[in-house]
Amino acid sequence: MTKLTDSEIARMHPETLALSYGFDPWLSEGAVKPPVFLTSTFAFKHAADGKQFFAWAHGEGTPPPRREMGLIYSRINNPNLEIFEDRIALWEGMRDAYSFSSGMAAIATTLLATHRPGDEMIVCAPVYGGTDSLIHTFLKSLGITAHFIPAGFEAADLAAPLITARTRSIFIESPANPNNRLTDIARMKELAIRRGQAAGRVLVIVDNTMAGPVFAHPARVGADIVLYSATKFIGGHSDVVGGVALANDDALLTAIAQHRALLGGMPNPYTAWLMTRSLETLKIRAEQQQRTAERVAGFLAGHPKVRKVCYLGLLTASDPDYAIYKRQHSGPGSLISFYLRGGEREAFAFLDSLKVIKLAVSLGSTESLAQHPASMTHSGLTAEDKVLGGITDDLVRLSVGIEHHEDLLWDIGQALEKS
Ligand SMILES: Cc1ncc(COP(=O)(O)O)c(C=O)c1O
Repeated sequence: MTKLTDSEIARMHPETLALSYGFDPWLSEGAVKPPVFLTSTFAFKHAADGKQFFAWAHGEGTPPPRREMGLIYSRINNPNLEIFEDRIALWEGMRDAYSFSSGMAAIATTLLATHRPGDEMIVCAPVYGGTDSLIHTFLKSLGITAHFIPAGFEAADLAAPLITARTRSIFIESPANPNNRLTDIARMKELAIRRGQAAGRVLVIVDNTMAGPVFAHPARVGADIVLYSATKFIGGHSDVVGGVALANDDALLTAIAQHRALLGGMPNPYTAWLMTRSLETLKIRAEQQQRTAERVAGFLAGHPKVRKVCYLGLLTASDPDYAIYKRQHSGPGSLISFYLRGGEREAFAFLDSLKVIKLAVSLGSTESLAQHPASMTHSGLTAEDKVLGGITDDLVRLSVGIEHHEDLLWDIGQALEKS
């Protein structure tokens, strides 16, 4: 079989490599697709190999690169996890990735790996409700304090005076969930470098779940760590829960790997296999979803029952976030939030009247999903954080899938009539 050289790989597009990279069929009976390696443990060829591995694990000597270390135990490594991690790292153009059993496992493990009691975080709000609770309750109980500022073009100015010697990270979801506000990652990185020099490194951590890996690459504009709920666009079919953490810095990658091994948040081999399978269609799904979302957003923006639509594709040069959009995104994606005229009653009437679109949380899947952030995904936020994030009772979040656009426009139209 012809193998691609490193320079040939460097010229290839991620969607090409997502079909084959990191898997040699001739190690698996010629299978074109990777088998699922349903094994918890791997045989050592010699006792000395086992001894060597455990010595490295205890910090003795210099371990070889990760992929040359050999397979030991599926909480530490497994071929299905490694194939997925190789492909998603290549997709993002980042040094390496670690996969997780959920987005929350990726976020929690990464934050525990990078923060110590006494550290402070700056968080651009709104963030996903689970992340918000993790920071407000669990991390707080460990002595890690967070300062919440509103996401948006002004976030860097608000963050600057909050950075102290204790600041360890700036946590960003861009676009923010659910209001689609954008935060300037490059400006945050400049700030982190400038302010962090005296005080120790300030990390810029970006949850890129909402944009997904097709339309935004946060590391290219300065993110030190990129996080995903792979449950969303990466998995893409509402049939798998998973997560990813990516970084370029070896020390950060080692810390994340060690914490994943200790906390046990790796995915099982079948989950990793499903995420790998889904990467093959990520680009065509995301592009089709985006084409339909552009039509849906235009329809909503012109509808008399809709007060305001938050969609990156509707930003214009006069919007303060527009310049960030142009720098950080190659397309608007398929997540739309919109405010109905009315309140919870009208929002619920709309959601209960949908016939094609499913009333469910989550996003980025082949089927369209709609939900009510104030009472569902973001119900746990403090009243103050809800205000920061514009999460009011009249807000609906819509994740556009791959259905025919005419059917979605019909469904939304008939449901709006009943709202
Ligand atoms: C932006 C964002 N980050 C993280 C998560 C958590 O991911 P998971 O549900 O895979 O744990 C979600 C879930 O909705 C999300 O929307």
